[in-house]
Amino acid sequence: MNQLAQQLNETIQQHNPNIYAMLSRLAQQIYFPKEGILSQSAEAKSKAKAFNATIGIATEGNTPMHLSVIQDTLSAYDPADIYPYAPPAGKPELRKAWKEKMLTENPSLSNVTISNPIVTNALTHGLSIVADLFADEGDVVVLPEKNWENYELTFGIRRNAEMVYYPLYNDNWKFNSAGLRDALLANKDKGKAIVVLNFPNNPTGYTPGREEGEQIAAALLEAAEAGMRLVVVTDDAYFGLFFEDSMHESLFGKLASIHPNILPIKVDGATKEEYVWGFRVGFITYAAESEALLAALEQKTIGIIRATISSGPHPSQTFVLHALNSPEYGAQKQAKFNLMKARANKVKELLDSGKYGDVLSYYPFNSGYFMCLKLQNVHAETLRTHLLEQYGVGTIALGDTDLRVAFSCIEENQLEQLFDTIYQGILDLTK
Ligand SMILES: Cc1ncc(COP(=O)(O)O)c(C=O)c1O
Repeated sequence: MNQLAQQLNETIQQHNPNIYAMLSRLAQQIYFPKEGILSQSAEAKSKAKAFNATIGIATEGNTPMHLSVIQDTLSAYDPADIYPYAPPAGKPELRKAWKEKMLTENPSLSNVTISNPIVTNALTHGLSIVADLFADEGDVVVLPEKNWENYELTFGIRRNAEMVYYPLYNDNWKFNSAGLRDALLANKDKGKAIVVLNFPNNPTGYTPGREEGEQIAAALLEAAEAGMRLVVVTDDAYFGLFFEDSMHESLFGKLASIHPNILPIKVDGATKEEYVWGFRVGFITYAAESEALLAALEQKTIGIIRATISSGPHPSQTFVLHALNSPEYGAQKQAKFNLMKARANKVKELLDSGKYGDVLSYYPFNSGYFMCLKLQNVHAETLRTHLLEQYGVGTIALGDTDLRVAFSCIEENQLEQLFDTIYQGILDLTK
């Protein structure tokens, strides 16, 4: 094994042997080369005063070489913030700004040790890094049965992990933490599990309340105390879009330092929060006992990044950093939040108005981009295709009974027409 990988393993082992035991075989092997091209270039950047002939970019007149046809459309930005490679861990200023944002929005993080966020090529990439580092063939990934479909590919297909599902809601239409606990304890013999928590949830738009948050933490603690090692990933893709009285913080904060058998990992990013889906800027952040342990996990993470994409896109990191540092950022973000909240409220108002009788029932939602209808006498896929072909209305069918509606992309004043049409579609198919 490479000596650097070995050293990182020893540090992790020394500071928390449980976390060492959570690592995949790939994670044990991976390291970030200290003496390779990147580190020699970094050294040259500060010391090579005469000529710096290190890294594989081109320069001209002390700026990165570039074409006017590109720069002319980006003239607000300094070429130095656009064209050179960003470091594998991301632009340092962006990492700092995102951490500050995270701490402001999650006061529960103030007393725990967390890493600097490492920039990823958006959330999917962050999740796939988690899968690379912590999932081996046959490891279980525990998640609610209403979930984002891509987890199956990231953890199941790509890393051969076994997906274990529990119902998202309990009989009282609250988060089913008993189901989570049972799913974990049923796999106690495996000794390890990866738990994915995603609030606001895709597809339902549900975020648990504070008491439910406590119950989730208690369920995880129970499994940890029973000897299971848990990698707990909070997929906070839709963070901040909390429209009602649910938790308004990530569970990452509550889980940090809760038990040495629990490694909380926060995967979040600009994609949905800052409405920049195509920019591909996300982050992965760890909570663990010590700075040395966090540094070793960071090295493993950037080892994976170096081995896969080498580094994320620089322009979009610059764009997001510029936004976070702009004085108008807060007000603009609040305005978009208000729009999204007004749409969510309108959907609820329509569905609760009695206008659709009991034909349009729905799963509890209070956050995010989506809501899900719970269909009774009509098959979701049949309804989806009928709505599409008959009325030109696009929705997403999930399983037999669920129809996901993204109110995030329908204007408030058009929501009534949308739900009237869905209602009519169901009547067409059930009369
Ligand atoms: C719950 C959830 N996580 C992650 C993602 C992926 O985000 P990104 O586009 O940043 O990879 C999505 C996108 O739909 C999502 O719904």
